[in-house]
Amino acid sequence: MSAPCRIYPDLPQGLFNSPNNAGPSLVTKKLRRDLSATALFLQEWMRRPGQIGAVAPSSRQLGKAMARWLPENRDDLVVELGPGTGSITAALLEHGLPHGNLLAIEMSQPLSELLRKRFPRIGVVTGDALELDSLVRSHSVAGRRVGAVISSLPLRQFSPEFTRALAGKIRAVLRPGGCWVQFSYHLGNRTQHGSEQFHLRSSNIVWLNLPPARVCVYQKIAA
Ligand SMILES: C[S@@+](CC[C@H](N)C(=O)[O-])C[C@H]1O[C@@H](n2cnc3c(N)ncnc32)[C@H](O)[C@@H]1O
Repeated sequence: MSAPCRIYPDLPQGLFNSPNNAGPSLVTKKLRRDLSATALFLQEWMRRPGQIGAVAPSSRQLGKAMARWLPENRDDLVVELGPGTGSITAALLEHGLPHGNLLAIEMSQPLSELLRKRFPRIGVVTGDALELDSLVRSHSVAGRRVGAVISSLPLRQFSPEFTRALAGKIRAVLRPGGCWVQFSYHLGNRTQHGSEQFHLRSSNIVWLNLPPARVCVYQKIAA
């Protein structure tokens, strides 16, 4: 009888293959999780393309570029707007943000449920980013300062009035010196409606994303 075919004989046990066939390995589990998250994202995009604004979850590189701007003060609250499947969320946590300091506001109910399963220790609110101020008030300890607002919202798909009102609310919740970090697929554009109330601290393109994105950091100057 011929020996069983092994295509990758040198793969370490537990990577794709589990030791002693004890269920799916870590990589297999991660692949399954990523595939089902991407499928849900596409499903939501087909239902509400204007609110999803992207055809694929954000890349690891985009997550890293956003996470660079986490507040230095580890006690500050961070608010994430439009976290979707949680690619940016994962990068924020990998960058050392304590789970209890993150409040994620996502409008889609199915995506919020996915986020709660994926990150059981962060705060996930199903709601509208425009209610940012009251959501922060009701879901965080009174007087807690917001050090950064990290947004994946597809602002170019929204009306100028919406974006201007949102920028005003972001400014109202941020502590002085805090940053609003926003990505956009409009590579030539460094501003958003309402961003003139902030100082443009940084603006860089992340090419390794589908599609490439520009990350802009708007800093709140003294009140
Ligand atoms: C570009 S997608 C997010 C992609 C995300 N970074 C990822 O990797 O999955 C934009 C997200 O914003 C959410 N969204 C759109 N409008 C919103 C609103 N007004 N309030 C809160 N979330 C909103 C959408 O449901 C969607 O999940």
